[in-house]
This record gives sequence, structure tokens and C-alpha cells, in this order.
Amino acid sequence: MKHLMSPLDFTTQELDRLFDLANDIETDPNKYAHICEGKILATCFYEPSTRTRLSFESAMIRLGGRVIGFSDAASSSAAKGESVSDTIRVISCYADICAMRHPKEGAPMVAAEKSQIPVINAGDGGHQHPTQTLTDLLTIRSLKGRLGDFTIGLCGDLKFGRTVHSLINALVRYDNIRFLFISPEELRVPDYITDMLRSKGISYSEVIRLEDVMPQLDLLYMTRVQKERFFNEEDYVRLKDFYILDTAKLALAREDMLVLHPLPRVNEISVEVDSDPRAAYFRQAQYGVYVRMALILTLLGLA
Ligand code: CP
Repeated sequence: MKHLMSPLDFTTQELDRLFDLANDIETDPNKYAHICEGKILATCFYEPSTRTRLSFESAMIRLGGRVIGFSDAASSSAAKGESVSDTIRVISCYADICAMRHPKEGAPMVAAEKSQIPVINAGDGGHQHPTQTLTDLLTIRSLKGRLGDFTIGLCGDLKFGRTVHSLINALVRYDNIRFLFISPEELRVPDYITDMLRSKGISYSEVIRLEDVMPQLDLLYMTRVQKERFFNEEDYVRLKDFYILDTAKLALAREDMLVLHPLPRVNEISVEVDSDPRAAYFRQAQYGVYVRMALILTLLGLA
């Protein structure tokens, strides 16, 4: 039985197979419409979500399976003090696979250790968000035609943004990627990530102004400032609008640059950017369904 805790749980060859499957699902969804008949996905979300939970549910339903779950810890027995370990033992009796989001880092890993069914980390605190990373990689591979040989700018809250941490960890396995980290001083990427990049001899730079590096980028990965991870409101208010990508700033970018964002956005991408062909974030959300369909099939041994 295989779980998914980190994007590194799959080798790059396994990821290629997963992405080939996701692209085949995109091309011919009817071929996959009944494969999961009789199977049940449990979505156990102890933290808010729109995309991750609903794209998992959509993925399972599009595969012919069914879905149970909760979208709020307060409506589960966690509110009565039940542990994640006990909850997953019980969910193992009800479902064939589980996607879990939790505010505590490592909680899905604790669940996986006690689980009788595959557990997918759907985001744990500020730590990892592997299925967002699979979504990001599939989007880049599908729209750019390659995973490697590019300069990527990651912009915004690089300290608390778990999607950023997961994506960097995944991208270092591909060749010739240059990282540009664009953030205010207070929201710089954590030291353990820059230490890891230095130890691998991977090129990166840290800058504050987005405009200074925009012309160099093949990909711009925008992120929101993570209000829920701040310890005080004052710091959040000071930093929340530090970056706002608008059409004037986008005019500095290459014609074939892509703008990605895991979403939700708050204010960091102006809505006027949405109609620019380089804005790929809603296509990215669509790829999230295909890759989660491929992931469910793979972890259930049905691929
Ligand atoms: N990208 C993402 O994780 O979105 P949700 O928080 O809405 O699931």
C-alpha cells in the first residue's frame, strides 16, 4: 500500500507515468468514467479548502466512485477530542482511500502510520501540499512541454506558503532550473530550503522587487500572504499587498511566460490579468482534477 505524503514519494519516472495518465484522462475522459465503481474516497478536511477538497471529490465522481467526508473539524469527532490515529482507523472501515488536510504539520503522516487504506496529504500546516505540486508540475509539463530548462520566479509569501516549499523540493530533481525568490525580507524562503539548494549546487537568487526580474522569467508562481499562519494581524496587514501583479508589470514579461498561482488569490493578481493569455491559473485548477484522477487510480492499483 502506497501513501502520498510528499511529492518526493514518487520517482521522476513514476511522475512521468502519472502525468501521461493525467493527459490521457484529459484527452479521453469517457475511458475512465467507470473504473472506480464501488470505490469510496473519504475527504477528511480539518482546515478550509475549495480546490483541493472539491477537485478530489470531482475526480472520484468522474471515475465512477463515491465520496464521504467532512469539510470542517468542528463537524467531526475531532471536536470531541478524537485523535487523528483513531479517526483514520475508523475511516479505514468506511472508505478505500482518504485525502486529509490538517493544520498540524505531520498529521497526515501520523494517520498513514495507522491506516489500512492509502492516505493522501492534502496539505499539512505550512509544511507540504504534494497534490498541489503534482498539479503545478502537470500544468508546467502540459503548457510548456517540458519539466526543466527554465527560470522560475516564486513571488509572495515564501516563508509560510507550503505550495512553494513542495514545488521547490520537486523541481530540484529536474535539470537546469534557476530559482528566483521574490519576497519581502520577513517572508523569505526558509533557510532549510536555501541550505538544500546550496548543498545540491542549484542556482538561486533572492530579490525584493518583482519588476527587476520579470523579463528573465519563463514562469511566475504567485502566492498569497498566508493570513492564517501569522501571529499578529498588524504584520499581516503591512505585508498583504506587498505584491500586486497588474497588466503594467506583466508588460515587462516575455510573451511566452506563464503566470501560475495555486489559488485562492486575495489581491496579489489584479483581475485585469485574467484575460491575458499568459494567465494560466484557472487552467492549472483544471489540471488539478486530471492529476488527482490519475493519483487515485495509481494509489488504488487501478492504473
Ligand atoms: N490550492 C489550494 O490548496 O486551494 P484550496 O485551499 O482551496 O484547497
